[in-house]
Amino acid sequence: MEMKEHIRNKFAERFGAPEGEFFASAGRINLIGEHTDYNEGFVFPGAIDKVIMAEIRPNGTDKVRVFSIDIDDYAEFGLREEDAPSQSWARYIFGICREIIKRGGKVQGFDAVFAGNVPLGAGLSSSAALESCFAFALNELFNDGKIDKFELAKIGQSTEHNYCGVNCGIMDQFASVFGKKGHLIRLDCRDLSYEYFPFAPENHTLVLVDSRVKHELKDSPYNKRRESCERVAKSLGVPSLRDVSLAELNAVKVTISDEDYRRAKYVIEERDRVLAVCAALERGDYDEVGRMMYATHEGLSKDYEVSCEELDFLADLAKEIGVTGARIMGGGFGGCTINLVRKDLHDKFIAEATKRFAEKYGHEPKVYDVIISDGARRLEA
Ligand code: GLA
Repeated sequence: MEMKEHIRNKFAERFGAPEGEFFASAGRINLIGEHTDYNEGFVFPGAIDKVIMAEIRPNGTDKVRVFSIDIDDYAEFGLREEDAPSQSWARYIFGICREIIKRGGKVQGFDAVFAGNVPLGAGLSSSAALESCFAFALNELFNDGKIDKFELAKIGQSTEHNYCGVNCGIMDQFASVFGKKGHLIRLDCRDLSYEYFPFAPENHTLVLVDSRVKHELKDSPYNKRRESCERVAKSLGVPSLRDVSLAELNAVKVTISDEDYRRAKYVIEERDRVLAVCAALERGDYDEVGRMMYATHEGLSKDYEVSCEELDFLADLAKEIGVTGARIMGGGFGGCTINLVRKDLHDKFIAEATKRFAEKYGHEPKVYDVIISDGARRLEA
């Protein structure tokens, strides 16, 4: 059954008539610029055609009642700080409500049913899709759309920080809110200035290969990576690694730990790679884009140490098969690789990667062709 029909039936069954309104937001890919967002660097993401969709209707009470179709679970909570629900999935929605209220926005009780097809824990930002779907919807339903899109993205990010234990940057929520069909977004995470880049390569396509190694950013070394970067910035007397050159980093090498040095070195190199990739794209130089992607993988694996055996295997395999560029995508510690693949190699790559991965790890990876799509939006009923 179509996702929307499924939601509509569930909503009617749980909450009765009349119908609510439908909203959706998207997961994201990131072509390059990993772990640069919280260092005030650049990122280059885009929203994809995998979404979280919700039907929502104000219920005239001060209670929120939500049903998740995919988790098959129901949660109910009030809108005061002490009413936080126990289920982790419901805390995302609770957090969005609280963050809107904290900023002086309005939220009243509502009923909602939601479902999605953004793979969970694959590095495609299912949580940002959920956050921006509800942030966008509650803005439309209770605030006449007056909260601007930048603020909606920040509301999602603050939800992660304050209610979900992940000290993430702004990339995922920004891509999910600002996503535009057929375009990647170069975002400067320092001042949130951004530019849309048309992305419709003639001879290449983007393919995600999900190792199905699950990652959980909460309590993961993700927050530790961020601490390393902040420590190095502090020791250099600057607010972030954004303005630090390799020469400046090398000048303090002996005064910081080897681990912190490698983390910072990766971030500085990655910051420059994003700009190089944008320039290469404008020239249509996909080989250069691909080289940069492999360099990012190398840095994430050796210096930033957020890869794992399965993802290294997938990136090496891609190179061996002749894929233009491949790298781990997202926070890391599992999830998927993003691959820039020549169209004439597409089928061969997928067949070969699936077979060889399954031979080695005993299960097939999941493969997704990426379609760059719109972000948060209201849907026709
Ligand atoms: C996660 C975070 C983002 C970003 C990426 C790594 O997806 O939510 O803010 O830091 O990891 O680039």
